[in-house]
Amino acid sequence: MGDPVTDYTARLQQQEQEIQSLSAEIHNLKTPQNPSPSPRLDELREENSRLKYRLNILKRSLQDVSLSTKSMININQQLQLIFAEAIRASCPELDDAPLAVTPNQQAKFGDYQCNSAMSMAQMLKAKGIKVNPREIAEKIVLNLPDNELIQKTEIAGPGFINIHLKRTFVSKLLSNLLMNGVQPPPLANRKKVVVDFSSPNIAKEMHVGHLRSTIIGDSMCRLFEFLGYDVLRLNHVGDWGTQFGMLIAHLQDKFPDYLTASPPISDLQAFYKESKKRFDEEAEFKRRAYQCVVRLQSKEPEFIKAWNLICNVSRREFQKVYDCLNIHILERGESFYQELMTQVVKEFEERGLLQWDEGRRIVFCPGQSVPLTVVKSDGGFTYDTSDLAALRQRIYEEKADVIIYVTDSGQASHFQLVFAAAQMIGWYDPQVTRVEHAGFGVVLGEDKKKFKTRSGDTVRLMDLLEEGLKRSMDKLKDKDRDKVLSHDELITAQRSVAFGCIKYADLCHNRINDYVFSFDKMLDDRGNTAAYLLYAFTRIRSIARLANLDDTVLKRAAESTELLLDHEKEWKLGKCILRFPEILQKILEDLLLHTLCDFLYELATTFTEFYDSCYCVEKDRQTGEVIKVNMCRMLLCEATAAIMAKGFEILGINPVHRM
Ligand code: ARG
Repeated sequence: MGDPVTDYTARLQQQEQEIQSLSAEIHNLKTPQNPSPSPRLDELREENSRLKYRLNILKRSLQDVSLSTKSMININQQLQLIFAEAIRASCPELDDAPLAVTPNQQAKFGDYQCNSAMSMAQMLKAKGIKVNPREIAEKIVLNLPDNELIQKTEIAGPGFINIHLKRTFVSKLLSNLLMNGVQPPPLANRKKVVVDFSSPNIAKEMHVGHLRSTIIGDSMCRLFEFLGYDVLRLNHVGDWGTQFGMLIAHLQDKFPDYLTASPPISDLQAFYKESKKRFDEEAEFKRRAYQCVVRLQSKEPEFIKAWNLICNVSRREFQKVYDCLNIHILERGESFYQELMTQVVKEFEERGLLQWDEGRRIVFCPGQSVPLTVVKSDGGFTYDTSDLAALRQRIYEEKADVIIYVTDSGQASHFQLVFAAAQMIGWYDPQVTRVEHAGFGVVLGEDKKKFKTRSGDTVRLMDLLEEGLKRSMDKLKDKDRDKVLSHDELITAQRSVAFGCIKYADLCHNRINDYVFSFDKMLDDRGNTAAYLLYAFTRIRSIARLANLDDTVLKRAAESTELLLDHEKEWKLGKCILRFPEILQKILEDLLLHTLCDFLYELATTFTEFYDSCYCVEKDRQTGEVIKVNMCRMLLCEATAAIMAKGFEILGINPVHRM
């Protein structure tokens, strides 16, 4: 059997459904002519309240169980459970009352807030019932079930309910966190996720768009992995297009002995340009190039050999970037789907979904004005065909529950078409399988124009990463860190800062928007940057060192020390730390990773506030000896560091102990 939380949740959901259908029945029985169609209604009411009672007991036990599990608890979600129940009890006539519980921005108004009463009043008004939202709020508060979370509530303004959390609850959760480490919330069933990201094109340079996809996609994978999903990271490289015809034809001319010796094509870009020029200018070459594509796609060994040679040169280039950024990804390019593409076209054909259009075979999908082209007039397949085949393979063979594509937003319409076609032919039901394009904006230079080198060329990624390394070393030397750190420490810090900053600069913006690439901004150690967070993190870590506490001492202290959270800043920090699970839950829903960056920044600044006003370690000014250690506060430092470390891990940033 599963764990108690999962079991209880399942039972709970069943019960809630029962209640809902009962309320609906009651609702239907009531008519203007017969406002109380008893005795059936009375019977139902009785049954209903019995069910609610049982539900309550179940919920309470659910919370008890939660407190004793190793998982972190999503406080917002727990509050929503509690308020959902109170709202249902207060207003049974509304079966779709909105549930709005959110963290409070201003601490003086409480920790969380429920804003449902106002919209409920609106909804009742639409039904011809006039009620003051404040009255509804009062009713909700009266109907709150017993729970361990809430200390008190207050009604403010037109009907806001301010929620104050119980200190003992927060303190217990923090102790759990310290004893068990940062554990993901419980997962009902292990789902399979495919993330299609990075995906550069062979023989072409990887550009900044691919950099964005690589950074964002990797972080999404890390999030899913932490939450316990089974993640397949796929590199859908462009390795099967017409460009290979010209590349192979050119290779045959330039390195005729390529079958026995490895030709030195170190600069594939230049090689690509040469062959493209010939393709455009020499009719005979062009003819041969087309022939090469056909022979490659029918997998003639000699052509596969040439193709492999070219792919390997590209692969080595890509790998340099992946090594810098510590990216692990499985290459499964367009070529992988060759046989499947043939089958997919057949499937559409058999279902009568193909149309002819000037020698091409196209597919129209409902609600889409543009068709997909699945076979070109020369018989070749397209980007559309390979994506249809890939999607089918991911659904039927990988048995994915979630499939995400990370590319620039320019490809949104392509994916819309592919998804629409797949649904039309019945490969998946969007209610069951989540298939999503996670698009992102373009990278701009500091002049707000498309990111280019001074000479107007696209920026090579390795040049960019190397420049990052140089700049980060300059920064470290500016701060005289080279005088304090060992050579190895300095190099580790340099890489951590350079690559951390590049990743964070990308991730901290809403991915939908364009973003301006600026080394100066990302390496600034003030503001919401990786540089700032990395420094903040090492500072927190150094506090424990200052007090001469090692991990075993801290672990033991976590078990025996009650976190009182008396000081206002301790309380604020404690609550901030515990918001981690709700942040991750939100990202799971909208795939917007900047929420995590915003949270880490808020955590770091909240920590600073705490550290500025709460002594953790007191030292003798003269001797430098430690006089007093406030263990409670040391533990808060530990908890902050643990959450920050996990946040960095999800963002793919490598923190260092000393920098
Ligand atoms: N190779 C494509 C490009 O560079 C991206 C591929 C994205 N993945 C996909 N399944 N279409 O634009």
